Amino acid sequence: MTFLVLLGAPGAGKGTQAPILADRLGLPHVATGDLFRAAVHEGSAIGIEARRYMERGHLVPDSITVKMLLDRLAQPDAASGAILDGFPRNLAQADILATALADRDSAVDVALEIEVPEAELVRRLSGRWICRANGHVYNETSHPPRVAGRCDLDDSPLIQREDDRSETIAARLATQLSALREVVGYYRERGLLRSIDGRRPVVEVTAALLAAAGGGAGTGAWSADARGTGG
Ligand code: AP5
Repeated sequence: MTFLVLLGAPGAGKGTQAPILADRLGLPHVATGDLFRAAVHEGSAIGIEARRYMERGHLVPDSITVKMLLDRLAQPDAASGAILDGFPRNLAQADILATALADRDSAVDVALEIEVPEAELVRRLSGRWICRANGHVYNETSHPPRVAGRCDLDDSPLIQREDDRSETIAARLATQLSALREVVGYYRERGLLRSIDGRRPVVEVTAALLAAAGGGAGTGAWSADARGTGG
């Protein structure tokens, strides 16, 4: 089993990189933000509750988040591991993940942190568009779609996320960065952290992440995969 944790501030590029890594490493991409947005879209009880926090830029309470994540990891496609994007977001979640994986005789293999300065995070989030159908990510300056307002991959309309309004961006960064630093410290103490300069172009960040993943993995088979596709 292989569990890779992708860490970074809002706008660092986790949602851009995770699907690429998932494809290259043959692992499912599990993103708590995507699970919450799907729940909001469905209008489920979890979605209605989560939306109250997301629209203010706050973390959703662990009582909701943890069960949702563990239910997702119990799906058959995650039997051999996953790329976790957006989880854990605080120390309690990091401990719960460690315990849940230990119950499966597994553990986090490597935590990859994408580092981007705060001013650049604000620029990226302000210019982000996602597609309505599948959440494919674009940026009006660094990654515009070929046809304005339409997704290159599925032709669905591009929309702005509710939490990408300027006041919510400020709240997300103000409330979430200190928790992120604690989680980064948690994995550093355990020798699992690899930090990547996220200011570079997407393809260069991907290559750096794959190289770091290959160097930091605890499982031989996955290390070989990561090195073999390291770009
Ligand atoms: P979530 O969806 O996880 O949002 P986030 O962490 O705030 O991260 P983002 O999706 O905003 O950014 P990203 O790092 O994925 O960047 P992206 O690739 O899109 O969570 C949303 C909310 O759900 C949270 O605020 C919270 O309320 C709740 N939640 C989720 N998980 C939770 C948990 N575990 N516990 C509690 N609550 C939870 O890129 C951003 C932009 O930059 C894009 O436009 C992209 O095109 C561009 N870009 C990407 N890479 C580059 C590059 N290298 N160069 C130039 N531009 C780039």
